[in-house]
Formats: sequence, C-alpha cells, structure tokens
Amino acid sequence: MIVRRSAAELEKLRRSGLLVYEILQKLKPMVMEGATTQDLEVAAEKMITDAGAKPAFKGYYSQAAGTKYPYVLCTSVNEEVVHGMPSVKRRLRAGDIVSIDTGVQLNGYYGDSAITIAIGEVNDSVKRLLKVTEESLELAIDRVRAGNRLFDVCGTVEKHVVSNGFSIVREFVGHGIGTSLHEEPQIPNYVDRRGENPRLKPGMVLAIEPMVNAGKPDTTVLGDKWTAVAKDGSYSAHFEHMVAVTDNGPWVLTRP
Ligand code: MF3
Ligand code: CO
Repeated sequence: MIVRRSAAELEKLRRSGLLVYEILQKLKPMVMEGATTQDLEVAAEKMITDAGAKPAFKGYYSQAAGTKYPYVLCTSVNEEVVHGMPSVKRRLRAGDIVSIDTGVQLNGYYGDSAITIAIGEVNDSVKRLLKVTEESLELAIDRVRAGNRLFDVCGTVEKHVVSNGFSIVREFVGHGIGTSLHEEPQIPNYVDRRGENPRLKPGMVLAIEPMVNAGKPDTTVLGDKWTAVAKDGSYSAHFEHMVAVTDNGPWVLTRP
C-alpha cells in the first residue's frame, strides 16, 4: 500500500526535506581537494544534532548487509555507486567525484536527498555523466503528476540515461518515504515489468534517485558489506530528491 499524506504531514516532510537541503548546501564548500570524507561526516552529524533531528542512516539495519549502517552520510567516491562510508583515509583529490547522500528524521518524518560533486577539474565525459544523471532526475520529477503512473517516472530516467550512452544501476532503487525511510513503492530507475505500476495520487511522496554508471551497469558490494561499486571500475553518479504528488503538480520537498 502506498501511503497518501495529508497536507499537515506534507508540511512535516517539507521541514525534513529542507533540513537535508540545507545540510547538503553547507557541505558543498567543504567538498574540496585535501578534505576527507570523514570531515564531511563530522560536520553533517553536528548539523543534524543542532537542528534537533536524528540521522536517518546511522543505525539503519540492512538485511543485505546484516549490520547497522554506522554513519550519517553515505560518501561514494568515483566508482563507488552508493553507501560508501566516510573515512579519515579517503582524501578527496582533483578529478574525483563524490556522491553525498544523507537522511534525517524530524518530528517523526523523514528527509532524504543526494548530490554528486566534482572536485577540481574533471574531464568532459565525467562532466557529462553528472549532467545527464541530474537531468534524468529533473525529467523524472516533471512526471510526478496525479494520473501518471510509476513507470512514467522510471521510464523517463531510463530513456534519458540510455539514450546518452550511460547505464542504469539495477540493484538499487528509489522508494516511497514518509514515517519510514523506505516505504512503498520501490522506484527502479528503469521500467521493471515484474513490478507494479500504480497510478500516482495526491499525497504520495517519492524519493527518486538515479544511480548511473559511465561504463557497464553491474555492481558488486565490497567486503565492508555496504559499499556498492561499479564492477568495471567506471565512475558512477547519484542524485536524489523527495517529490510529493500534489493537485498542482510535482512538489520537490528537498529544495526551496
Ligand atoms: N538514499 C539511500 C536510500 O534511500 C541511502 C540509504 S543508506 C542507509 O536508500 F544506510 F540508510 F541504508
Ligand atoms: Co533514498
């Protein structure tokens, strides 16, 4: 069942969404050559605590990993697709890209968003990977309209990514979000005909998160049980927004 949120609930999700937005904005200038991903973690944890919120990821149990995720951020560098763990050993260098994904719980309602940032100068194909991935999210957001179906959203990401020569990660998907971090429906970044294709209705809230590889789509999880990487070592990009279905079209909760 896909939960439909009342106007009052959407306002709470909006507060959580804007907090995540502010955290990502404040982290951006810290993402520079020489910084470690742990520097970002420390800053983010303070921001979450100072806002009176709880981190959504830290302590999150994953059946697949068999452990609780230990950080407030996922920092996925270069060939890392998602769930990269902050580390004092991971010093960012020019030419790297880093996906910063974070989630909060505020007054019982979740926020979740991700961006990918290039450090220093990156080559044109990497620039294009980031651009196409972000564009695929924007195009999908525009499909989040009452009366459309889930596959309109999924298929829009897929079409834009594939037509630009990149590949869609299949093992990780977007999700509904509300009073849990992960709610129905699952939102693959491709049309999965084995899955349901519900009609979108006002009050539904979708976390759409394209994960796009420059090379082949295949991923594997490292020995830490969390870090997903592109098998062929190619760069991978990731952007995420929470979007509510409203009578007036898409409402992106994770930006002003
Ligand atoms: N944005 C990701 C998701 O929604 C990050 C989850 S990290 C985890 O699934 F630790 F919470 F699993
Ligand atoms: Co998410």
